[in-house]
Amino acid sequence: MSLLSLHFVVLLWCSNILQITAWINYPADGFATITHYEIPRDYIASCGCTPSSTHYPTAALSQMAYGSSRAYGPACGKCFNLTLLHPVVATPPFTPSVAKSVVVKITDLCPLSDNGWCSGTEHKTNPAGQYLNFDLAFPSAAIPDDFFPSDEAMYGYKDFGVWNIKYQTVSCKDQWAGSKEAAALGSVADLGRESVCCPANPTGNANDTCPSYSDQNGIPPITSTNIATPLSISHIICLAYWLVHVMLLQ
Ligand SMILES: *[C@@H]1O[C@H](CO)[C@@H](O)[C@H](O)[C@H]1NC(C)=O
Ligand SMILES: *[C@@H]1O[C@H](CO)[C@@H](O)[C@H](O)[C@H]1NC(C)=O
Repeated sequence: MSLLSLHFVVLLWCSNILQITAWINYPADGFATITHYEIPRDYIASCGCTPSSTHYPTAALSQMAYGSSRAYGPACGKCFNLTLLHPVVATPPFTPSVAKSVVVKITDLCPLSDNGWCSGTEHKTNPAGQYLNFDLAFPSAAIPDDFFPSDEAMYGYKDFGVWNIKYQTVSCKDQWAGSKEAAALGSVADLGRESVCCPANPTGNANDTCPSYSDQNGIPPITSTNIATPLSISHIICLAYWLVHVMLLQ
């Protein structure tokens, strides 16, 4: 191989590795994982939806699908029908006797982490092999306490924690339990228009769907310093290669 073609191959490899991570362009219906997290009743989460939205089923979506690294993103206000399939970890495997579903509105951002359930990016899945994770606000007055099925006698614990799910995009207006209560819809008024965005029934059209706060404000998609990806061994090799060539050229 000539030096020039070696140079070309390395550059091609490096440009692939150093490429800027973009938001995940997920299909309307597909597969994902679900976890759950606790937020206080009436809490105003990242999208800035009204406190009363928490009286109905809500969820956070993993950062790279949410579409912003802070404040609001294009997922804010969207509604999804989430159906439990089976727990990610259960030995022996657990099959629920009824397929349970819940229609949630996205009101929060599940921050990108190195290897957690919300670690999915365009190029990498989470530990369960999924790009998207829905983090359900649970327990919640709006969801039965036995929503996540289990067999405590068999497994020794009640909560499997992480489930594989099927998700479907649905109309909030027709399917979300909170859609009939005006106070549960829209964004909080007193936080300033520039930091909140919670459409009642986003359809994906630019006139009724949130933009990305971080894109609008020049904030990178990945802001956490805990994410190792931006400086992996591959990045260091690419940078070193580039430095050596700059020195040789002088
Ligand atoms: C949610 O999905 C389940 C399973 O596919 C289905 O039975 C149920 O009717 C759906 N609910 C809504 C509101 O779309
Ligand atoms: C938003 O845009 C869509 C498609 O461009 C259009 O059909 C709809 O009427 C618009 N809605 C409003 C409220 O302007």
